[in-house]
Amino acid sequence: MELIKAYAEEIALNIDGNLDLNELKQLIEKPKYEEQGDLAFPCFLLAKILKKSPNEIAKDLSKKITNPLFGKVVAEGPYLNCFLNRKIVGKEMIKSILKAGENYGSLEIGNGKNVVIDFSSPNIAKPFSMGHLRSTVIGNSLSNIVEKCGYIPIRINHLGDWGTQFGKLIVAYKRWGNEKSVKQNTIKELLNLYVKFHEEAEHNPSLENDARLWFKKLEDGDEEAYKLWKWFRDESLKEFSKIYELLDVFFDSYQGEAFYNDKMKETIDTLNGIGLLSHSEGAEVVDLKEFDLPPCLIKKSDGATLYATRDLTAAIYRQKQYQFEKALYIVGHEQSLHFKQVFLVLEKMGYDWAKGLVHVPFGFILKDGKKMSTRKGKVVLLEEVIKEAIDLAQKNIEIKNPNLENKKGIAKIVGVGAIIFHDLKNERQNNVEFSLKEMLTFEGATGPYVQYTHARACSILRKGNDKANTSNLMGLDDPHSWTVIKSLMEFPNVVEKSFKQLEPSQIAKYLINLSQDFNKYYSHVKILIPDGQQQCRLALVKSVTLVLKEGLRLLGLKAPDKM
Ligand code: ARG
Repeated sequence: MELIKAYAEEIALNIDGNLDLNELKQLIEKPKYEEQGDLAFPCFLLAKILKKSPNEIAKDLSKKITNPLFGKVVAEGPYLNCFLNRKIVGKEMIKSILKAGENYGSLEIGNGKNVVIDFSSPNIAKPFSMGHLRSTVIGNSLSNIVEKCGYIPIRINHLGDWGTQFGKLIVAYKRWGNEKSVKQNTIKELLNLYVKFHEEAEHNPSLENDARLWFKKLEDGDEEAYKLWKWFRDESLKEFSKIYELLDVFFDSYQGEAFYNDKMKETIDTLNGIGLLSHSEGAEVVDLKEFDLPPCLIKKSDGATLYATRDLTAAIYRQKQYQFEKALYIVGHEQSLHFKQVFLVLEKMGYDWAKGLVHVPFGFILKDGKKMSTRKGKVVLLEEVIKEAIDLAQKNIEIKNPNLENKKGIAKIVGVGAIIFHDLKNERQNNVEFSLKEMLTFEGATGPYVQYTHARACSILRKGNDKANTSNLMGLDDPHSWTVIKSLMEFPNVVEKSFKQLEPSQIAKYLINLSQDFNKYYSHVKILIPDGQQQCRLALVKSVTLVLKEGLRLLGLKAPDKM
């Protein structure tokens, strides 16, 4: 039910077509204070058209609006304020939520157009870092949000599977590595080899040259180099998949940097053809002085291509492939300059669609105020962190609800949910302090708190034998249910805001508020007593479970019925 539209329609009936419905809708606002009502219509524009005072118009209109939905309509100076009839609105609201089910809050902004979401994108043969975790969690949620808004999300994992580091890795593997240990412990072993390469190269500089040669061989399609590279890639992906499985995240494409290998020549030729390439110290660059930015490096003096060359090529390829309206790059803010350069080069190439490219940056994950690093042996292996969260969640369950069925499954949902929610509840640009203990509490602004609220609501429904049908709802008039109903009413707006700002935190914060409102309601109102309103109360509880579950889904969390 769209209250603003309904109010606008009511006003439209009484102003002789002097403003159309859309204009009216735009004008309607929320009064500053709750005592002033639920909706306000300022009469200034109408006053100009009708050459009457706005106060007079407000007074006039207040007498003419008789729809019972708007319980009381009063003129307050130049404003036409209305107080909704809570019983009717609540009833209609609950009806429409139950009817829409999980589609409640879905919007039609996207009209089925494609949005590419480039996220997660870890680097082969390196640990999956905390930054990649953030990108995975934020990107997954934004994919869901975009879809909720009527777009088709294309989830792309732009794997870091190309670059000079593979030359180093091949050299190190051939000298010090063996198949068995790589198979047993891929990322740890490959990282060790990588670290060893750098240590050795310090007193044996010829290694760097070997590495360059091997990378050149790889780029030229040498069989041995290619086989090793492919093997490193496959083994690394196997390990990353374990993390994706735990987080329940999937991708439509794993076309990473290597995929663009044979496509970069065309990009470079195009750049050359339109005279955008210039030489700088042996390298080929696109000059960006006019934007006060350093040049974008396209080709090194030895002919090797770069990260930016691959991103330019990837964007062009994806536009051809998907005709995206928007392409979001979920990458930490330390790469802001890179994306600025890439987007500007594409604009200079004359691509109109470059306007739809958006870098969606985020902050660091901190431990005791310091950046959590995966480099230099201080590796925090993500898979272990996630498993620890699941273990802790399981211990919690053993204490709180030892007879719960499927404890293992629920522990996974809660442990993983805790990590995801903890990341998403803050605006993405902020840094996040990592604390398993804090994430996993059932109180406060955590994933388990929202999940637990949902499970509690489900348990009430079970006790009420799911009598939440809508055929004969009476409506509710106590202040606690009104608070919950108002909160439910907000959901579509929250979805829209989270999409416009590309901020899952909007939804996370909303879910905390709704949970708090519901828990207050639960502690003040007896839901299960069999009076005339029981069915309606149960229908309200059911609406709450629907919205909590759908909100959690948008963030990438599951909502078990029992906890
Ligand atoms: N692999 C890169 C890194 O770990 C992130 C890639 C992001 N996506 C992109 N299209 N550049 O830093």
